Amino acid sequence: MKLSYPSKVYLNGEWLKPEAAKISVFDRGFLFGDGIYEVIPFYCGKLFLLKEHLERLRYSLKEVELKCDISDFEALILKAIDLAELNKDDGAIYIQVSRGMAPRTHYFPESYDATVLMYAYKTNLRGFQDQFKDVVVSNDLRWHRCDIKSVSLMANILANTEAKKGGFAENIMIRDGFFTEGSHSSLFFVKNDTVYTHPNGKFILPGITRNLLIKLCKDNDIEIVEKGLPVSALDEVTEVFITGTTTQITAIKNLHFPDKIVHFGDEIGKVTKRLQQLFSEEVKNQTGVDID
Ligand SMILES: Cc1ncc(COP(=O)(O)O)c(C=O)c1O
Repeated sequence: MKLSYPSKVYLNGEWLKPEAAKISVFDRGFLFGDGIYEVIPFYCGKLFLLKEHLERLRYSLKEVELKCDISDFEALILKAIDLAELNKDDGAIYIQVSRGMAPRTHYFPESYDATVLMYAYKTNLRGFQDQFKDVVVSNDLRWHRCDIKSVSLMANILANTEAKKGGFAENIMIRDGFFTEGSHSSLFFVKNDTVYTHPNGKFILPGITRNLLIKLCKDNDIEIVEKGLPVSALDEVTEVFITGTTTQITAIKNLHFPDKIVHFGDEIGKVTKRLQQLFSEEVKNQTGVDID
């Protein structure tokens, strides 16, 4: 898909053309990556899981003690879709809040004006049911607060760039012998018809799609266990899939290690397919949009 810039962005109270939107070189987001972000999907202009995303945004802000009033964000999000003329399209909202401008010190000042950036962009959210991808393993070199959706993403960026260079759809990370998640996706395994995913906590992002999938499993009598899978247990795994706001539910065909390739069949597994179907039904229920 061709990448492009949005036509309008919201920056600190103004809607501007991207080339007119400027921040200070002393913005702490620029100097330190001192900021958090959120990505919210919409189908035919209808937001999906908005409340959950805003809740996670509040959580991230609280965990890094970043003061920012987000009470008008819902209205701004709707305006972003409108201004981008995406009311009939699929896409996502990008929101970033940084700790604003201050003379450079590691500690943050008591008072500051947060920098708020927001925009809507078009993206393809159809056809995930047909994707069957290859991914590569990488060491999880991230910090110990992966539960915060921080814009400081250096470890994710380096690992995912290696994956991209190798022609892989994503990199799947391993910490202390256990699979954690992808650089920008949550990770699931199926073993003996039971779905496994790493528990929430400090080592993964509490993915909104992940949390929905867990609920869908529970509501539909699909066995789900929130437990990290050791790399040594991979032989028993029959299906692997990743989830995310724009990834939705993408099946994994091959997992590439430096010394071997683990293959998960020539067709997408039945548990993955069932969950994809349940996910599409949820999108239909919440937005009225049929993505099947
Ligand atoms: C590290 C990481 N894990 C998981 C996810 C998936 O989260 P969500 O379903 O909320 O998009 C993302 C999304 O960007 C991510 O960056």
